[in-house]
Amino acid sequence: MKKNLFSACANVARATVSGAAIATFTSFAAHAAELPNAALVAHGEYLARAGDCIACHTPQGGKPFAGGLKFDTPIGAIYSTNITPDANTGIGKWSYDDFARAVRQGVRPNGETLYPAMPYPSYARLSDDDMKALYAYFMHGVAPVQAQNRAVDIPWPLSMRWPLGAWRMLFAPKVQAFDGAHYNDAIVARGAYLVQGLGHCGACHTPRARTMQELALTDREGDDFLAGGGPIDGWVPSSLRGNPRTGLGSWNEDDIVQFLKAGRNLHTAAFGGMTDVVQHSMQHMNDADLLAIARYLKTLPASDPKETPYAYDPAAANKLQNGDASARGAAVYRDNCMACHRSDGRGYTRVFPALGGNPVVQGKDPTSLIHVLLSGSALEGTKSAPSSFTMPAFGWRLSDQEVADVSTFVRASWGNAGTPVSAEDVARVRKTVTASTPALPPGATLKR
Ligand code: HEC
Ligand code: HEC
Ligand code: HEC
Repeated sequence: MKKNLFSACANVARATVSGAAIATFTSFAAHAAELPNAALVAHGEYLARAGDCIACHTPQGGKPFAGGLKFDTPIGAIYSTNITPDANTGIGKWSYDDFARAVRQGVRPNGETLYPAMPYPSYARLSDDDMKALYAYFMHGVAPVQAQNRAVDIPWPLSMRWPLGAWRMLFAPKVQAFDGAHYNDAIVARGAYLVQGLGHCGACHTPRARTMQELALTDREGDDFLAGGGPIDGWVPSSLRGNPRTGLGSWNEDDIVQFLKAGRNLHTAAFGGMTDVVQHSMQHMNDADLLAIARYLKTLPASDPKETPYAYDPAAANKLQNGDASARGAAVYRDNCMACHRSDGRGYTRVFPALGGNPVVQGKDPTSLIHVLLSGSALEGTKSAPSSFTMPAFGWRLSDQEVADVSTFVRASWGNAGTPVSAEDVARVRKTVTASTPALPPGATLKR
């Protein structure tokens, strides 16, 4: 789970924006309505949400877009920059061309190349019209904030930026108009534009080469596109292709729309890095764009044609209901999980996710499953689904062996076909995640 230089989204999870910051942000955006080009500014704001600029350019509790969010890399830390229109510390003096070159090509006005933690290889396909709207928003819809950019914490000579230029020449696409004609349906084409461009979904969901470029930036570059990325902060972005068990094969368009809009659907609930994508970005998209994204994702065939379709198998539920917990991990499940996720593994719709047929549970890489068991997770409320539910942390009271056993049980029950998990797998994940211990009542001690 090594963080790497280009795992763009590595620290997005930490970029939660404070309520107060959001309030200033929206009041300023409201003020934009008085400007002559208000419609363009408002459109730019919408696009900035689609691109999730705020998640990376705002540290926890910080002012919107003032930069300073830390990204760890193996050679040292880098920080996102101030992209408010402040003339001295932000981008207030940048021309439209300066802005467009930085966002689409990763090149600063002084010629330096940006770290691809800034997802310019995806933004490369943004249209001129959208770039102009974004520029109008960042110049007129965002409050200027005086905040100096932080220099990278990388020792010389590794801090030299010219190798980034070489990387950019090799791996970043040329800026060219998005070719919607390849898709013979206008809605699918719109979805492709959003997914491949502003949404930069592939930055997390597409596997990367050793040289860290995404193996495919579009569906036309092969089946690696959105086939599932490596773990980011201990969460595995799963496949968004048609794989029946480990991808979105069994989801329909509405399932995808619901997930992006509400962070939950009949099958699953968002967690890890995806929570922030839903919170800051996707829940604000209009229904037409969400439908376009869903319809486009449904055009992507399975990357593994051998994967068998999922079918519910009642055997595990029958045994649990008859008091038989002899299978490996079944007793741990009965004692710790069944109250919420139920003996039939179907959970409670939109409250406690189903574990049967869940791509996260039976995916090849069990890291997310182990992680959610060790540290728990909160399903945050969204505009369309305001309630919030919590998955408790079990890391403080279940041993590596017990977590391995219950993981193995849920990966193999109710028709799931995941491979077994070992105590060593759990120990490896435990080293990298933070698991809190709840406060004990006075006088109580914890037996280990
Ligand atoms: C996944 C994280 C991420 C997202 C999303 C992101 N950025 Fe960035 N951006 C960065 C980082 C990190 C840097 C600094 C890179 C460096 O120092 O080389 C940066 C740099 C920039 C710069 C160059 C600023 C300068 O002073 O050199 C601009 C302009 C910019 N981003 C605009 C945007 C816009 C507009 C969006 C949304 C459409 C956006 N960014 C979304 C991470 C991100
Ligand atoms: C910052 C990294 C990141 C970005 C960017 C990102 N995702 Fe995700 N996504 C994840 C992670 C991690 C998961 C696994 C956790 C979960 O299922 O909620 C996930 C899960 C999902 C799932 C649920 C899959 C399943 O089988 O449960 C869908 C659907 C999804 N993402 C769609 C998208 C779309 C569409 C985009 C682009 C608009 C996107 N994601 C961008 C990190 C990301
Ligand atoms: C108090 C109720 C509760 C208990 C007990 C509980 N969970 Fe959960 N579980 C949840 C909620 C709520 C979520 C959704 C969290 C989120 O989306 O952030 C969840 C999410 C999950 C997920 C991620 C699936 C997804 O698609 O989001 C897995 C896997 C999981 N639980 C397994 C277990 C196992 C195994 C146990 C027992 C060791 C357990 N849970 C105990 C409530 C519970």
